[in-house]
Amino acid sequence: MFKFLKKKIKGSGTNSERYIQLKIKEVRKETEDTNTLIFEKPEKPFHYLPGQFLTLILPIKNEKIRRSYSLCTSPYTDENPAITVKRVETGLVSNYLNDHMKPGDVFDVMTAAGHFVPELKADQKKKYILFAAGSGITPIMSIIKSILAIEPESNVHLVYQNRDENKIIFKEELNHIKTTYSERFSQIDVLSQPQKAWEGYSGRINVPIASDILMDIAGNKVNKADYYLCGPINFMQSVFEALTEFEVPERNIHKESFFTGELKTKAPAKTIGGEFDVHIILDGEEYEVHIADNKTILEAALDQDLDMPFSCQSGLCTACRGKLLAGNVEMSDDDGLSEEEINEGYILNCVSRPTGPGVKVEIG
Ligand code: FES
Repeated sequence: MFKFLKKKIKGSGTNSERYIQLKIKEVRKETEDTNTLIFEKPEKPFHYLPGQFLTLILPIKNEKIRRSYSLCTSPYTDENPAITVKRVETGLVSNYLNDHMKPGDVFDVMTAAGHFVPELKADQKKKYILFAAGSGITPIMSIIKSILAIEPESNVHLVYQNRDENKIIFKEELNHIKTTYSERFSQIDVLSQPQKAWEGYSGRINVPIASDILMDIAGNKVNKADYYLCGPINFMQSVFEALTEFEVPERNIHKESFFTGELKTKAPAKTIGGEFDVHIILDGEEYEVHIADNKTILEAALDQDLDMPFSCQSGLCTACRGKLLAGNVEMSDDDGLSEEEINEGYILNCVSRPTGPGVKVEIG
């Protein structure tokens, strides 16, 4: 039987606080298949942290399609926020954005989210080693600029995988950073199909290449640095394995799943018998949502008109993250969460199903 109970428990949180309208100020071509959309400063207060993403809500083919794109700008150094979108061959949204967006266009956006965020402190002296592949540079770019601006004693080393020199996104901006912060920033490019004159690293980053580069950058101090990785799964896996061989503590390795804006095939869901009522705390209110037919918590909540945050619906972007306050759930895919987040009780509602009664989740 359908059951939907809404019970206010505290505060005055409103869902509208989660949405904002952004107007495009400028479209800047980065490479032949990648554009940066620079937004005008929004009228409503707009806050974000380095490494976070925006979820765009786009009216395409009479539907409202959501896709997440990382901000490439730093909240500390860039006046206007911007995202960078690389065209994916059959990608509905990436092609739409690259073909249609122009200055003056306005669209709805969910406020910034994501947990691929360094904890920066002005008096901190750290070595950061950042690995990016292709458009995985986007959140890394935001992180680079922020570290250099906020932590004057820290060093940043970027390892950047691309196919060839023409595919290097933010080439000019990175050159500018190299000149400005020549003492504290370095960049190693790795090209899988370089032109003949290329003298740098070539090939696809695998465990041996990653290990060589790590030795070059940090010598016997590889396990003392902080790492941020963003790119395709195989790329991140290779770097992760190399870091594990150097005994880098897992808490120092931060990964952002490479979300191209196109959905991946969902892992087949294990059938979980039974129907359960789940309590969801959203924007300061508590709701009871009935879950049946092996639906995820997100699917059931959306069916029952709850304005839940979400984007990829594939367990990657973390826009739907919640904290499990009581009960148990089964997650069909937890790649988007770090070990630490899982231990702290965070779940992704788009891939979570209750396995028994008494589940309570707080969104955020
Ligand atoms: S909506 Fe993207 S992880 Fe759940």
